[in-house]
Amino acid sequence: MKLGVNIDHVATLRQARGGRAPEPVLAASLAEQAGASGITVHLREDRRHIQDRDVFLLKETVQTKLNLEMAVNAEVMEVALQVKPHCACLVPERRQELTTEGGLDVAGSLAQVRSCVVKMQSVGTVVSLFIAPEFEQIIAAAKSGAQFIELHTGSFANAKGESDQQRELTRLIEAAEKAHSLGLRVNAGHGLDYFNASWMHHVPYLEELNIGHSIISRAVFTGLPQAVKEMLAIIE
Ligand code: PXP
Repeated sequence: MKLGVNIDHVATLRQARGGRAPEPVLAASLAEQAGASGITVHLREDRRHIQDRDVFLLKETVQTKLNLEMAVNAEVMEVALQVKPHCACLVPERRQELTTEGGLDVAGSLAQVRSCVVKMQSVGTVVSLFIAPEFEQIIAAAKSGAQFIELHTGSFANAKGESDQQRELTRLIEAAEKAHSLGLRVNAGHGLDYFNASWMHHVPYLEELNIGHSIISRAVFTGLPQAVKEMLAIIE
């Protein structure tokens, strides 16, 4: 299982003062040198953290792979089609939310999602859909033509107590099995940290975990390379 490091919150800190530091491009290089297999950023419609220039620079400088999270939105897609990231992960987006709250409703907007998948694939980008571990969404994802799904682990991460955690873990396991049976490749992410990430070993077929907030939070105290290495040790 590989680790993709989401560096959005390096940009959040930079935007707090609107200056140049800390530089997300430097964060990406440090994370890669520490062993990350990919760098993820979310170009939000409101540009609250990652900016267009970050995405263009990261496409030039990332040596592993750049995974661009994006809404199914014409304006953001225009930028994404110019950037041609290695991967794009389609996510739902609401202006008021603090972070991506639920999964993408692929079943309820299949035509729109499929058109976005086709456009991104036309520039050589591999497409993933960020969805809740629900069969209806997985079946729709398979119909969309996307190569990957990313299972939303937020409900698992927020579960309180062992029986709730176990129930949410079972949902993730069944979802991964279903996705695999339909020919989809499977990643997972959201809310994973140094305490719960090891549980993901129970989920079959997972290729990559995308983790952001917990790694950047730990990096404040340990430095980013150490924070990435500690997460990799848990995954390994
Ligand atoms: N995967 C997706 C699709 C996300 O939207 C996010 C949050 O930006 C993450 C993974 C990482 O979540 P976290 O920051 O909670 O680790």
